[in-house]
Amino acid sequence: MEIIVLSDPAAVGRHAARLIADTLARRRDPVLGVATGSSPLGTYAALAALAREGLDLSRTTAFALDEYVGLDPSHPEAYHSVIDREVTLPLGLDPRKVHVPHGAAADLSAACAEYEAAIEAAGGIDVQLLGIGANGHIGFNEPGSSLGSRTRVKTLAPRTRRDNARFFGGDVEAVPVHCLTQGIGTILRARSVLLVATGEAKAAAVAAMAEGPLGAFCPASALQLHERATVVLDEAAASKLVDREYYDFARDHAPEAAPGLD
Ligand code: GLP
Repeated sequence: MEIIVLSDPAAVGRHAARLIADTLARRRDPVLGVATGSSPLGTYAALAALAREGLDLSRTTAFALDEYVGLDPSHPEAYHSVIDREVTLPLGLDPRKVHVPHGAAADLSAACAEYEAAIEAAGGIDVQLLGIGANGHIGFNEPGSSLGSRTRVKTLAPRTRRDNARFFGGDVEAVPVHCLTQGIGTILRARSVLLVATGEAKAAAVAAMAEGPLGAFCPASALQLHERATVVLDEAAASKLVDREYYDFARDHAPEAAPGLD
């Protein structure tokens, strides 16, 4: 896991956007995994700025990590709408190439299997952008999730529903109980993963992910198994890391041939 600590959230967004742009530029038909939540917003803003300067993302296929079950896709907090608003439009993606799990499907198991098949058919994900929940979740893989899991229906943790109530007018009861999420095994199949985290509230989860034992109790710790996992943090999110000296030293002495995410 390569850990890069930068001064503030804006620097995190700019750095992550550059890494993504470099990776996608090497592919003829790039595939980007996109995340919801507040963490990646700075990355999307920086990618949108690169797009305004000429970065062409129109050939990029995108797959979202997860979706609530039972919300109409047009609901403003359904991840269909969120991805449309925060990713597809500002980045200039082709809406026909943007995929979000079908949380309103009559047959949710079939929707999950179709989603896995669609990722496969697109050639797999080149770079998967991730945030991290305060409880260490990635996507909606709550603590205890199988480290080999694939896209499936999950029950949200009470803490996640409380955390996400802010998007539903503060009403925790309005937050769906179930979701569809790419599994940890699905995420690990991406050719590279890029996790961004900012703020003190994520510091404990980040330390557990990077320096704690590998285990389902901290789902993000599964990224320790990934060959190309990059973590970009601001100072606050990095504040509970023990081996900070090494991360900074390694960042400043990256081997010449270090190929970024790819
Ligand atoms: C959400 C999403 C995750 C996200 C996480 C953190 O519920 N399903 O993909 O990474 O929780 O959210 P935030 O970035 O808003 O703190």
